[in-house]
Amino acid sequence: MALEGERSQSSAAEIVFRNVTKRYPGRRVAAVSDLSFVVPAGEICVLVGPSGGGKTTAMKMVNRLVDIDEGDILIDGRSVRSLNVIELRRQVGYVIQHVGLFPHMSVADNIGTVPRLLGWPKDRIRERAGELIELVGLDPEEHRDAYPAQLSGGQQQRVGLARAMAADPLVMLMDEPFGALDPITRARLQDEFLRLHNELRKTVIFVTHDIDEAIKMGDRIAILREGGVLAQYDTPDAILAEPADDFVARFVGADRSLKRLALKRLSQIELAALNGSEPSGPTVSASTTLRDALALMLGEGTRDLTVVDEGGRQVGRCSVEHLSELLARPVGEGAT
Ligand SMILES: Nc1ncnc2c1ncn2[C@@H]1O[C@H](COP(=O)(O)OP(=O)(O)O)[C@@H](O)[C@H]1O
Ligand SMILES: [Mg+2]
Repeated sequence: MALEGERSQSSAAEIVFRNVTKRYPGRRVAAVSDLSFVVPAGEICVLVGPSGGGKTTAMKMVNRLVDIDEGDILIDGRSVRSLNVIELRRQVGYVIQHVGLFPHMSVADNIGTVPRLLGWPKDRIRERAGELIELVGLDPEEHRDAYPAQLSGGQQQRVGLARAMAADPLVMLMDEPFGALDPITRARLQDEFLRLHNELRKTVIFVTHDIDEAIKMGDRIAILREGGVLAQYDTPDAILAEPADDFVARFVGADRSLKRLALKRLSQIELAALNGSEPSGPTVSASTTLRDALALMLGEGTRDLTVVDEGGRQVGRCSVEHLSELLARPVGEGAT
């Protein structure tokens, strides 16, 4: 695809929060308190926590929609404070819940907003809009000249995403981007965004109050509590395995073991050998998640499953005991 200058399509930047604090005037409690974490280039970092926990504030300091009081945020080693704010915002794509599309502008013109500011030639903007409309799962023929009011909520959100990606930003900020969508549309956009991200590998900061969305979308999750205090920063698996304290444990939920099992498929674990024995229990595909495998065993009243590959060949066995032994292992050991 055609992109800015000589940057390749995999361009992404590391983001560092370094002791970042924000106090709004007249507020006793800080909105964000001494926040420090590193988002490696190309990863999705989800900020999650209860409403009022400072997620939006933390995110808006990256593109300086909110000023930092203390500490700093670095993008590829450069302080956002040192960058020209216009320049900064061109490098940072921004997607919000209610999209904020310009109602009097067509889909293509909405997507072309930043490229126009950058002075791209008309046909290049047009070409880029066409590419992006397709990339986010819309039809260039049908939607290029449509106005936002003629689109469904999900389609508008796709256009918002395309607009944020138009000038190939280094960083994407997404504030509850799918929060206003019905559950089915939401799940579809989550899946498509993950697929897109897998190709484009932007560094993304994604805000949600929904722990399930955080677990699904995040390479890493930052859990913020009241006052914008970082409660835990780690991979979803590590947070579910070892919540840092009671607040995190309550926030991730009493079913955290099941959520952990849902992160893995039978094909990703070491199965018990068949040893020529008769297959026992129901047969399941290796693409089944460990959570679904457990549910099946409970539902069928068995303690064993026989696992088959795509061609229907038996590849091993899995038991309830095996799953609970996996959960008991320290994070990162042996399960994959
Ligand atoms: N512009 C503002 N002026 C004053 N207080 C604000 C402003 N924006 C947010 N706050 C306060 O800062 C805290 C964090 O808000 P916010 O960052 O929006 O949290 P979240 O996105 O996690 O819901 C809340 O107590 C909120 O009321
Ligand atoms: Mg918010």
